[in-house]
Amino acid sequence: MAVHTSPARGLITNSIIPVLLILCAALSFGLTFAPCYSSLCVEKFWPYQARIHIALYYALLASIALFLTARVVSKPVRQWSSTHLSTAIIPLVGKRVSVGGLLLFVWVAAFTFGSIGYWYPAENSYWTARGEKANWPQYMYRITWTGVTGHWCDILMGLVILPVGRQSILGQVFGLHVSTLLFAHKVLAYSLCIAALIHGLIYYSFVAAWVSIVSTNIMYQFIPDNPTLTWREAGVKGPYSWFTLPTGAISGIVLIPIMVITSLPVLRRINYNTFYYTHVVFATAVIVLVSLHTSTSFYFLLPGLILWLADWAWRVRNALGRKVEVRVQNAGNGWYRITLPAKEAELEKGDSAASLEATPDLLSTYYVNMPSVSSLQIHPFTAAAIGHGSSPPVLLFQKGPERKKAKQRDREWTWKLGALVDVNKEEAAPIPARIEGPYTPKVPSLYEADHILAVVGGTGITGALCIANWWAAKHSSLPAQTKSFRLVWTIRDGATAQVEEVQQLQALMRGAPNMEFHVHVSRAEGRLDVEEEVRGFVAPKEGARQGKVWVYVSGPEGLLAGVETACVRQKKLLRGEGSGGMVSGLEWYVARWSL
Ligand SMILES: Cc1cc2nc3c(=O)[nH]c(=O)nc-3n(C[C@H](O)[C@H](O)[C@H](O)COP(=O)(O)OP(=O)(O)OC[C@H]3O[C@@H](n4cnc5c(N)ncnc54)[C@H](O)[C@@H]3O)c2cc1C
Ligand SMILES: NC(=O)c1ccc[n+]([C@@H]2O[C@H](COP(=O)([O-])OP(=O)(O)OC[C@H]3O[C@@H](n4cnc5c(N)ncnc54)[C@H](OP(=O)(O)O)[C@@H]3O)[C@@H](O)[C@H]2O)c1
Repeated sequence: MAVHTSPARGLITNSIIPVLLILCAALSFGLTFAPCYSSLCVEKFWPYQARIHIALYYALLASIALFLTARVVSKPVRQWSSTHLSTAIIPLVGKRVSVGGLLLFVWVAAFTFGSIGYWYPAENSYWTARGEKANWPQYMYRITWTGVTGHWCDILMGLVILPVGRQSILGQVFGLHVSTLLFAHKVLAYSLCIAALIHGLIYYSFVAAWVSIVSTNIMYQFIPDNPTLTWREAGVKGPYSWFTLPTGAISGIVLIPIMVITSLPVLRRINYNTFYYTHVVFATAVIVLVSLHTSTSFYFLLPGLILWLADWAWRVRNALGRKVEVRVQNAGNGWYRITLPAKEAELEKGDSAASLEATPDLLSTYYVNMPSVSSLQIHPFTAAAIGHGSSPPVLLFQKGPERKKAKQRDREWTWKLGALVDVNKEEAAPIPARIEGPYTPKVPSLYEADHILAVVGGTGITGALCIANWWAAKHSSLPAQTKSFRLVWTIRDGATAQVEEVQQLQALMRGAPNMEFHVHVSRAEGRLDVEEEVRGFVAPKEGARQGKVWVYVSGPEGLLAGVETACVRQKKLLRGEGSGGMVSGLEWYVARWSL
């Protein structure tokens, strides 16, 4: 069940990307020489350009993989690539621009628009010849550009389908956070929508011109469902060759827009399940349809498709395929506790070795499916206790947001599960479940840090509990100047702090002079000043911290944005001062849940 990285597994994982790229590139090249089953077989008309297109696409993937590998192996490259160009958040996008992000954007755009260089001359000479043959040359530029823009979609579609979910091989190999991958996925998806719209509109303008001609001779030279064919050729080849327009139109006008609309944050947050199932089912349909549409679409989808299938196969085999029994309990004051079975590997290892491991599964997430609550839904939770030896991993959760209609609210997963265990408040109810995880992000700076500040809000406390307990076991007896830990937890209501896991940590921290736990009750004290929290920790007025600082933030969106902005500012200030101060580095980690 666990996603551990043994040396053998690490080697296999690291070789997957180069092996996959080589295999897919070879297969795509090979297929251009084999019988083609798409409605429009690009390589039959433009074999040379089709193969250049494939070669450049795989060169693009390989160069991105190389860049991401350089980020993993070289700290200076990682630091340079994650440097923010400005502290300001770009409106609408909701992100800051980093050097690496900008570079990748420009690189993908260069390959996408660069394809005009080899597609335009080829398409132009083909369509000009066809136009002259039909004695109708004036509208051929429209269909030329339809072809050129269609090849932009090949590239963007191939990139957009690369899996970015929890088990994503890209995340594992390149240490990328799910939220970074999802952001890239969104940028590519929106770009694909624009490219597909341009492609569709240009073709529509060609069909409009075709419809308006009176000459049947010209009309016979092109069939709108697949303009590479004349009516006579289409008759010989059969209805299969007429699928180019319908497959493109269904994907571009119906399926992709519905996927994009249901994934918009405002709709996704109201109805996550509609977003999720629409995305999975429609994505499958789009893959089939665009592969029928043109052959190059299929060649470009290959790597993502293989990774996607492998991802699902792994999940079904390792987690979704077997049920375990978990214990669920009302933990009081709005909290619920899910106790998972103890980890098999840890049971074998024994207690002490696992608890002091240099890089335990901190910040790990488990995905829970409980058929008695919903057979299809899988919900993510950050471990509040990672579990070691015979002590099991523990998840803490609160019910999701209130809904206007009580009936609708009671159908939500967390509310349904809460209601199941509310009947018996004392006992933990055994419930059959399928558990995926732990999925653990790679955060080397957490383990290298000398001083940790965790600023968390509401349910965001869960991940911080794990970090604090691990820190207490490792560093609690050291002087505060060299090692320190501060946890600031902002909650609306004081009663929220009355939960066993928090009280145990508070008791532990009372005996540790270099650890602080500050609970901020916003209803009584007003909003927490996060800028001041970060500044006060990184550059305290009295005394000084020596070494590296790491900031963890988890909580509502505004809190995440506020802390991240404060960190970006402090980092700029630290750079300005050089290492005149005692702090030798500042890194942070934003645990983003709003996927
Ligand atoms: C990585 C991660 C870690 C989390 N850790 C915790 C935790 O430790 N404790 C805790 O109380 N909550 C945690 N959450 C939030 C928790 O998953 C949601 O509260 C829960 O899924 C809500 O389900 P619902 O159907 O009752 O509510 P809904 O009203 O349907 O949804 C409430 C919110 O949860 C999101 N959501 C709903 N279903 C899912 C899903 N299947 N996958 C992802 N997001 C979903 C929606 O976008 C919405 O913003 C975490 C979320 C993520 C993504
Ligand atoms: N890691 C994550 O991404 C994460 C973690 C936890 C929760 N969430 C999401 O956030 C939403 C609410 O979660 P919740 O019910 O646990 O929290 P909540 O009760 O709404 O808020 C918790 C605390 O955060 C404070 N807060 C909110 N915005 C802030 C800001 N901009 N600056 C400083 N303090 C701020 C609140 O103060 P005020 O009273 O002043 O608002 C409150 O004290 C849910 O949708 C949940 O899924 C996300």
